[in-house]
Amino acid sequence: MNVAVVSCSLRSTPRSYVLACDVADRLRELGAEVAFHDLREYDLDLRGTPGAPDSHGANEIRASLKQANAILVAAPVYNFDVNAAAKNLVELTGGAWEDKVVGFLCAAGGRASYMSVMGLANSLMLDFRCIVIPRFVYATGDDFENDGTEEMRVGSAGIEERIRELAQAAMRIGGALASTA
Ligand SMILES: Cc1cc2nc3c(=O)[nH]c(=O)nc-3n(C[C@H](O)[C@H](O)[C@H](O)COP(=O)(O)O)c2cc1C
Repeated sequence: MNVAVVSCSLRSTPRSYVLACDVADRLRELGAEVAFHDLREYDLDLRGTPGAPDSHGANEIRASLKQANAILVAAPVYNFDVNAAAKNLVELTGGAWEDKVVGFLCAAGGRASYMSVMGLANSLMLDFRCIVIPRFVYATGDDFENDGTEEMRVGSAGIEERIRELAQAAMRIGGALASTA
């Protein structure tokens, strides 16, 4: 099983990056081959900028997503949506998402934005026929120890469990679809 994990926050100490690292660890424990992409390490132009989809970084991530049986997106919630970098990634890599199993891990400032991932989830289902894992992770600052520091890690048993369940669901659903391909 190949699973791509994409960390979409561009901040220096992102909570969603901590979620991404945690789910990558859980996936490896379950035997997955994990391709980890931290968007801070890519200088991706916005879609619409001439040449943006053909940049080295966009090509690298597109190839990795194409290979994956499942894609897990760890993203911040901005303005009741995922951040623009996450959406731009989809705009740049488009067809690589076709028929993929996709799961989400969201970092947010408060509890009120719980359904913010649905815009991206809907577009992935409608545009690329993605199978969206209904169980997703939604964490706020209270769910982390040493929040906002380099030592930050998941500090809530509930979120740890949700991450484990998301990893298991990605393996189970991704594996089942791969075996029928
Ligand atoms: C421009 C902007 C918009 C935001 N919009 C929301 C929002 O709509 N709902 C929310 O709960 N938090 C919102 N937040 C807070 C972030 O979701 C929160 O800081 C989160 O930890 C960011 O993810 P990261 O730590 O992975 O970068 C916003 C933050 C910024 C900078």
